[in-house]
Amino acid sequence: MSGPSGPGPALFVASRLLESVEAELASAFETVFAEGEDPLAELAELARRSGGPDAILVSLDCPMRAEAIEVLPGSVRALATYSVGTDHLDLEAARARELAVFNTPGVLSDSVAENALFLMLGAARRATESIELIRSRRWTGWTPTQLVGVELAGKRLGILGMGDIGGRVATRAQALGMQVLYCNRRPLPASDPIRASFGVMPAFRATAAELVGDCDVLLLACPSTPQTRGIVDAALLERAHPGLILVNIARGDLVDDAALVDALRTGTVGAAGLDVFAGEPKLEPAYYELPNVFMLPHVGSSTIEARLRMGRILIEALRSWSQGGQPPNRVV
Ligand code: DGY
Repeated sequence: MSGPSGPGPALFVASRLLESVEAELASAFETVFAEGEDPLAELAELARRSGGPDAILVSLDCPMRAEAIEVLPGSVRALATYSVGTDHLDLEAARARELAVFNTPGVLSDSVAENALFLMLGAARRATESIELIRSRRWTGWTPTQLVGVELAGKRLGILGMGDIGGRVATRAQALGMQVLYCNRRPLPASDPIRASFGVMPAFRATAAELVGDCDVLLLACPSTPQTRGIVDAALLERAHPGLILVNIARGDLVDDAALVDALRTGTVGAAGLDVFAGEPKLEPAYYELPNVFMLPHVGSSTIEARLRMGRILIEALRSWSQGGQPPNRVV
């Protein structure tokens, strides 16, 4: 890829990023930023006018399905996503088109882990109702019965998907006095670097059903894949202890919304902390009405620290790739 003084555009940035991130990209590469509502049309026009870029950068707001990948200008050989998740990309189509694909693992994990704690605490301590009460000016003063929530200390946190983010939530939850369990396809091997961070090694459960039956708070931290989509359904929730707190920091489509709404109404699920939603930004309408849902608009990685690191890890990857390197964050 050419640097800022190179012969043609090296990078086309399809998503709007923070100004400081855009400035770092522009000083690393000859960069063209999309300006309008249809970045892929702008890319096609750019390719017609002045030759296409070597790489394009997208994010969740610019999904790259097979149809979009197939019509990319021939010059494009790399696709960088400003996200850790890749479910908005058709990786098979990228492979078939021989595109190198890069994402942003690790660099946003602390921010997302902190958000998981925020959601857990918000759900446990009835944040939605508390905020509503005080902001509506209807609060009439302290009483022993007002807005009684539950403590997290002493509770069992079940993490579905103990990867980098899950591991960082686990260490923080241990500091809160929670006991941690997890479910992955396989137990973490002794050599896994995530293990080093634990005070006490979390207990393993082989299936989501076993995990749910043994925890008070269930955290969804696994990627959305054909195996995990809809994993939180009525059958799984039937195994929950009444009052389970469900927290989703991963992807909305892990949850069957109708089943969760039902469980929130009956009390099988006592409260939910949700940062992600199937079909977002359109949500299951019942979530707006349920006081026991503490919800946020997909802000897990929205910190200045994470945003800057996400830009830098992609700059590093694209530089290394263009020099024949094998960046560790290459997905395809
Ligand atoms: C991701 O990176 O996949 C998040 O969901 C947005 O930061």
